[in-house]
Amino acid sequence: MTMNQAKPPARADQAAGQQQPLLKLSGIEKKFVNPLDLAGRIANLLGAGNRATVVHAVDGVDLEVQAGEVIGIVGESGCGKSTLGRVVAGINPPTSGHVSYQGQDTRTMTASQRKAYELGVQMIFQNPMASLNPRMRVVDIVGEAPVVHGLVKAADKATYVADLMRQVGLDPEYAQRYPHQFSGGQRQRIGIARALALKPRVIVCDEAVAALDVSIQAQVLNLFTQLREQHDLTYLFISHNLGVVGHISDRVVIMYLGRIVEVAPTDVIFGGANHPYTRALLAELPTLDTVRRAYKPIAGELPSPLSPPSGCTFHPRCPHAMARCKSEVPALRQISGGHQSACHLNDEPGGQAAARFAVPVHTLPSIPEPLPA
Ligand SMILES: Nc1ncnc2c1ncn2[C@@H]1O[C@H](COP(=O)(O)OP(=O)(O)O)[C@@H](O)[C@H]1O
Ligand code: SF4
Ligand SMILES: [Mg+2]
Repeated sequence: MTMNQAKPPARADQAAGQQQPLLKLSGIEKKFVNPLDLAGRIANLLGAGNRATVVHAVDGVDLEVQAGEVIGIVGESGCGKSTLGRVVAGINPPTSGHVSYQGQDTRTMTASQRKAYELGVQMIFQNPMASLNPRMRVVDIVGEAPVVHGLVKAADKATYVADLMRQVGLDPEYAQRYPHQFSGGQRQRIGIARALALKPRVIVCDEAVAALDVSIQAQVLNLFTQLREQHDLTYLFISHNLGVVGHISDRVVIMYLGRIVEVAPTDVIFGGANHPYTRALLAELPTLDTVRRAYKPIAGELPSPLSPPSGCTFHPRCPHAMARCKSEVPALRQISGGHQSACHLNDEPGGQAAARFAVPVHTLPSIPEPLPA
């Protein structure tokens, strides 16, 4: 089975639309204040006038996620994906804006609603070795939290963990082993079992396959797809790699310097992307005829979020930048059903940016066949 075949169709309830979103992000902003270091404070004593720096990691994100959807969140490293994921999972509070879960604003939840949110939204991280306690056995890594939260009786822990290990493709015989006794792919399966153990509705997967070999990535992506079906899960699948996200997502959100610049169903992103940044990401994807060519990254570097460019923050790298782009922030606007983009080209005579230049149709890069388990 190839990864393209593995991607399930969007659900009927999504197609019907209009029901209350499972997750709603409203005007999410997250700023980090980096205080002055010792050298800066000493320099201030001599009148240097240094100030603490503020990183605007997420800058006004609005997004609705329906139950059962898989949303891919894509952008270059440093654009705020992990910060947004941590806000969604309740690990970091937003500086402003708010998250609603099951129609309830997380700021005003009762204790029982908060517990349902904290258990209901779980996060899986990039580096399973760093996120798994090296001194704990798998049976405890996976089984401890569900016992503490009263989801399972202590006497049933071993059976519960064995069942989860089978579901993620691990032999339950290994329940007494420690993380270092597993391969990278197996450790990520332990991380997935640990998240599943809390019976979540939403899993935020932050670069969950980025550290794995390409062939192992395919296996783990297939596992995510199977588990989604079995457990009725909703995923926010964060990755810097548009190709990986394309294999699993129903919808793709493109982020640039803390803002959403384009949102569309996955086939629209690959077949008719609107935003020049999305097009640049697509142009980077290896295809059968470019795979042997040298890797050509997007021209220029991601600007520092400490001092983002004025207007459209993509303008210093955009081949289509106009005078207006330097001063006016483009709003994220609907350009067709379910497709939003933030680019001034859409206001130009002739309509959408897509009409301004040829639209290459991209096929997903192939991921090797998964090896037999
Ligand atoms: N705890 C933190 N303190 C200060 N700055 C941070 C912190 N976490 C993230 N940042 C900054 O916020 C920006 C977005 O980071 P991040 O969300 O990790 O991006 P991504 O996951 O897309 O690579 C970066 O400039 C990063 O340096
Ligand atoms: S608004 Fe201007 S700079 Fe920004 S992506 Fe569109 S054309 Fe490029
Ligand atoms: Mg990250």
